[in-house]
Amino acid sequence: TADPTDCAAPEIVAHRGSGGTSPENTVASFRDARTSRATVVETDVQLSADGVPFLFHDGTGSRTTDVAEVFPERAGDPITSFTWAELRQLDAGSYFSPRYEGERIPHLNEAARPFAGSDVTVNIELKSPENSPGVEAVLAQELATNRTWQRLIAQDQVVVSSFDEASLTTFHELAPDIPVLQVGTIPEDEETLERWAGFADGVVTNYRTLDPADIERVRAHGLSFSVYTLNSPEAVQAAADLCVDQVISDFPTQMTRLLRGHDP
Ligand code: G3P
Ligand code: MG
Repeated sequence: TADPTDCAAPEIVAHRGSGGTSPENTVASFRDARTSRATVVETDVQLSADGVPFLFHDGTGSRTTDVAEVFPERAGDPITSFTWAELRQLDAGSYFSPRYEGERIPHLNEAARPFAGSDVTVNIELKSPENSPGVEAVLAQELATNRTWQRLIAQDQVVVSSFDEASLTTFHELAPDIPVLQVGTIPEDEETLERWAGFADGVVTNYRTLDPADIERVRAHGLSFSVYTLNSPEAVQAAADLCVDQVISDFPTQMTRLLRGHDP
């Protein structure tokens, strides 16, 4: 078992920007993540109906946008069935607080600028890629051509993750120099872990289904171990005591404060 005095404090990964303290996956949230002292920020990418990569978590706009007011008869439709011009009409801030009225769904590239000149790594999750056919090639292309992404990549500050192994390996073949993380349940068998180790740098798994014994099993394959989504100080402290590499949280400012001084 892990000895917490033997390991560094886990990295804090700001989830969906800083989704607990500002509207998730918006520029406001990325700025919030930047000031949180988290060393990684996570966001989710999908593809609009006309092929534009945008940052959004859910399958529909109903929870986090005013789609029911702007497009009443399409409110429950897949978010990927909207064009980029339509997505830009939505308010993605008011659901969180009237203070954020007018906050828009960002283009993929809007997640780069807030972290230019910082040490922060951006973890781009290919979210529900089955709804975004071709998203892997679009992401690879944007990362290869946008100068702000290029600068971050040159400093090892971009990683790509997904629950979808096929999507992740497709992306990895297109952009072999960008590290990828496999999200999901830790497999029971060593063969699957070994296959993951063939393309991925690490695994990201749900803290609620965590078996502490899996941490060393995963590491034996050379993979890092990250857990999501930990929003109580007790849970973050417990994960730190297990010596996980990364803790993903909606409250990165609170969690970086908590862990400061944890290092032996
Ligand atoms: O990075 C892991 C985490 O973001 C996966 O869950 O649903 O918040 O994208 P979800
Ligand atoms: Mg995510």
